[in-house]
Amino acid sequence: MQVKTYNAGICGIGYYVPERIMTNADLAELVNTSDEWIRTRTGIAQRHIAGEGEAVTDLALQAAKRALADAKVEAEDIDLVVFATLTPDRIIPSAASTLQAALGAKHAAAFDLSAACSGFVYGLSVASAFVQQGIYEHVLVVGGEVLSRFVDWEDRTTCVLFGDGAGAALVGRVPEGEGFLAFDLGSDGSGGDALDIPAGGSRLPVTEQVLAAHQQFIHMDGKAVFRFAVKVLGQTVEDSLKKCGLPPEAIDWLVPHQANQRIIDSAATRLGTPAEKVVINIERYGNMSAASIPVALAEAYEAGKFRRGDVIALAGFGAGLTWGSCIMKWSKEDKS
Ligand code: ACO
Repeated sequence: MQVKTYNAGICGIGYYVPERIMTNADLAELVNTSDEWIRTRTGIAQRHIAGEGEAVTDLALQAAKRALADAKVEAEDIDLVVFATLTPDRIIPSAASTLQAALGAKHAAAFDLSAACSGFVYGLSVASAFVQQGIYEHVLVVGGEVLSRFVDWEDRTTCVLFGDGAGAALVGRVPEGEGFLAFDLGSDGSGGDALDIPAGGSRLPVTEQVLAAHQQFIHMDGKAVFRFAVKVLGQTVEDSLKKCGLPPEAIDWLVPHQANQRIIDSAATRLGTPAEKVVINIERYGNMSAASIPVALAEAYEAGKFRRGDVIALAGFGAGLTWGSCIMKWSKEDKS
């Protein structure tokens, strides 16, 4: 028996960032750093920081409402919520279930996805599989983070890098030849210690000693992650392109994870993608982990950059260590 399959793609997209902005100058009052160091090493000028009491599902709710409005789909029609995050409101219940209730998506299943900064691309691949198989018609994929609560504000090597925000995409059926063309996902868990939050899980519960040693915060071997990122970011896009039989020149837009301008430049150079085709917003938001790619994608769409049929490459890397990329043919009409 032949099973009917569908083409899956992004039908609606939206983002939200908290109001408060923290500039590099603000950070220089907290730790021994400078605007010049942060800009030249990373490309970051400022980041948005969640307000007191504002959790990741609060940001995600705004992003999700915008994605639904863009797709012209009601919350009640969502079949599944996939929430990519490393900073959920609580360990249980999942951020996805909390968001599902807040949205009124009462017919939806919900779960969180843990792949750090690669999480949004991983989430799209899950949504794509469900929609292609006809199991679900509408899957909401969210990438959201409130990293400011997991950053050690006394550690200049990490606190200058991160920001808070959320992006959401409604994945559904699209016409043949459009939507997702290929995914490439990967993991090298042997590099897991290069970027972690050591405490708060079952390995190292939070105790007074743990708190005194700041082990509840993000720890990173920046140089190791940098080397890994430069190696995998371009490679994963090449692997995705191969799967759908497209050359690198076919890329109309490259939307990479926004961790470091130098990492993005190196991937773009490897792929031969000119700077004007690379979507970059790191200067204004810093690294928002799972939220970086959907926020960049939604912003570029709202700015009217994409034309229907454009080939867009998404590429992420992060803790795990993980990586993931996606090639898609944009199936929405111009926003402009
Ligand atoms: N301000 C001023 N000086 C600083 C700062 C700062 N904020 N941070 C570090 N320095 C100092 C260091 O102490 C060091 O001083 P020293 O030479 O006297 O020892 C010097 O600057 C150079 O430090 P490096 O670590 O060598 O700087 P580097 O050029 O490698 O840049 C950075 C550091 C920006 C962290 C870079 O390594 C990087 O971007 N790595 C990748 C990070 C990344 O992509 N993370 C992804 C996370 S995604 C996720 O899953 C959450």
